[in-house]
Amino acid sequence: TYVVTDNCIACKYTDCVEVCPVDCFYEGENTLVIHPDECIDCGVCEPECPADAIRPDTEPDMDKWVEFNRKYSEMWPVIVSKKDPMPEAEERDGEEGKLEKYFS
Ligand code: SF4
Ligand code: F3S
Repeated sequence: TYVVTDNCIACKYTDCVEVCPVDCFYEGENTLVIHPDECIDCGVCEPECPADAIRPDTEPDMDKWVEFNRKYSEMWPVIVSKKDPMPEAEERDGEEGKLEKYFS
């Protein structure tokens, strides 16, 4: 599976949702997540993210992100159309500690 990681938080560009063939992105207030059981591992969303926030779970230390994506994809509504990014998306792209700031 692919998962959304911390740099999506407070950016939420949403380019990713337009290309997903199975509509498995879910939207929270500050970030998106992928449902790990619905993702078919096609990889087309990864290069679409301007914040480079989408990673394959085959990379090291991805377990916590798979669990994060699973947890919230079961709580949040599906998103299938692109919308405006968050207002400070450009400034906050690459900021450290977003997960702790928004999800602690
Ligand atoms: Fe959707 Fe493919 Fe990205 Fe999985 S890898 S979220 S199926 S676009
Ligand atoms: Fe987030 Fe990147 Fe999609 S910032 S909303 S994962 S395009």
